[in-house]
Amino acid sequence: MSDWISVSRLDALAKDSPLAVELGDEHIMIARISDDDVVALEDLCTHDGGEISSGCIVDGAIECPRHGAKFCLKTGDVLAPPAYEGLHRFPVKLEDGVVWVRDDRWD
Ligand code: FES
Repeated sequence: MSDWISVSRLDALAKDSPLAVELGDEHIMIARISDDDVVALEDLCTHDGGEISSGCIVDGAIECPRHGAKFCLKTGDVLAPPAYEGLHRFPVKLEDGVVWVRDDRWD
């Protein structure tokens, strides 16, 4: 099973403000969606490789800055085209004010 990796302090995350972080060799996006809930998604749009972390969060969804595809923050599912494949959502845990993420794609 993959290891948990610390990627940020919780107090460094403003609500609904995405942040690009590294998870080992991978670039991922994390976002605080409430006081005690953080999500982590792939930072690569499935439409044409846009950086999701540069997008805007509105009503629980993040919009790709390149062509406007929307993805659900909670599931990574596509909510609006031109993307048709969702983003992988990584497991997140919060401990002692630290955000931990695990890359479970090959577990
Ligand atoms: S690269 Fe994201 S919508 Fe096109």
